[in-house]
Amino acid sequence: MLTKRVFSGIQPTGIPHLGNYFGALVQWTELARGRHKHFERPIFAIVDVHAYTSRFVKFGRPLYTSILDTAASLLAIGLGPENCILFRQSDILEHYYLDNVLDNFVTTARLARMTQYREKMGEQESPANGLLTYPVLQAADILLYRSNLVPVGEDQRQHIELTRDIARKFNETTQSRLFPEPEALLSGSLHARRIKSLREPARKMSKSDLDNKSFIELVEEPEVILEKVKKAKTDCESRVFYDAEKRPGISNLMRIHHLATGQSFEDIEHEFAGVESSKYKLALAEILIDKFRPVREEFKRIRADRAYLEATLAAGREQAGPLAAETVLEVKRLLGSLEAR
Ligand code: AQP
Repeated sequence: MLTKRVFSGIQPTGIPHLGNYFGALVQWTELARGRHKHFERPIFAIVDVHAYTSRFVKFGRPLYTSILDTAASLLAIGLGPENCILFRQSDILEHYYLDNVLDNFVTTARLARMTQYREKMGEQESPANGLLTYPVLQAADILLYRSNLVPVGEDQRQHIELTRDIARKFNETTQSRLFPEPEALLSGSLHARRIKSLREPARKMSKSDLDNKSFIELVEEPEVILEKVKKAKTDCESRVFYDAEKRPGISNLMRIHHLATGQSFEDIEHEFAGVESSKYKLALAEILIDKFRPVREEFKRIRADRAYLEATLAAGREQAGPLAAETVLEVKRLLGSLEAR
């Protein structure tokens, strides 16, 4: 049986939060630990060039700091050179060559219809072209490794569909079968696919949200977790029960609780029957503090060792580089820049 190749990326626009973790990173670690025996060792990229489209809104935090924070977070949750290929996107220039090529296999009108572009564009007076075209770079990231599966959160599903269409168009045009049509691999739990902001539960939790109480970073200090959960927006009803439509705030917290412990909503409702939501929040904060304590401690240890982080990313570059170069060679042959085989 043929093995499948897995690729995904994360923007170093801050430290990964609970949404990134439950929506995507849990799957990354499962794939890396080899739970799926027909998959190759997965390839994961810290996609720093994607962060150029939004880093200016993130409190002027240096991108390099965020790259190392992201690398250390990924290592702290159990990813590493022994179980995956982890690299920094800008280290492999083939991403930009393929991005340029793929620009010719998608229309501007299609890109302008992408949901995430329309949402992010709304926040800016005159959006940069990079904001419009970044799904093409994302397609290049995925196709460069001829990936079959892309573990992502729900917000990225549309971009993976676009990637499939670009792959198909390229293959048809060049009469080749170079690129597989990759599929999004969403979390098995519907509740994990789109974790909401703690402050505005209609929106998704996002690293680049200017309100830093809207998200909980994986390595947040206990007192900060407590403060953020206490400040999470809920309604005036104080009972703890799940109703995603009418009570989005408390339901979002219960979803996080369910994902952190495996407890069903019924069990949570039963356990906290008669308890006010303010008290429930204190209990949930404790659960999160305990659950992520090992990650927080591991993160601190790894983050202090810059040489190790750089060496890990360099090792990833060494492994991903030849795969990328091989694809680019094929693309050049198919498009006529090099002699056909
Ligand atoms: N709220 C979320 N719930 C579930 N999954 C999520 N993901 C992001 N937010 C949620 C998934 O996490 C992976 C890495 O995301 P990313 O950093 O590459 O980009 P993003 O989707 O744009 O995430 P953010 O946090 O919202 O970043 P910013 O604010 O910088 O744009 C992806 O698989 C994503 O689906």
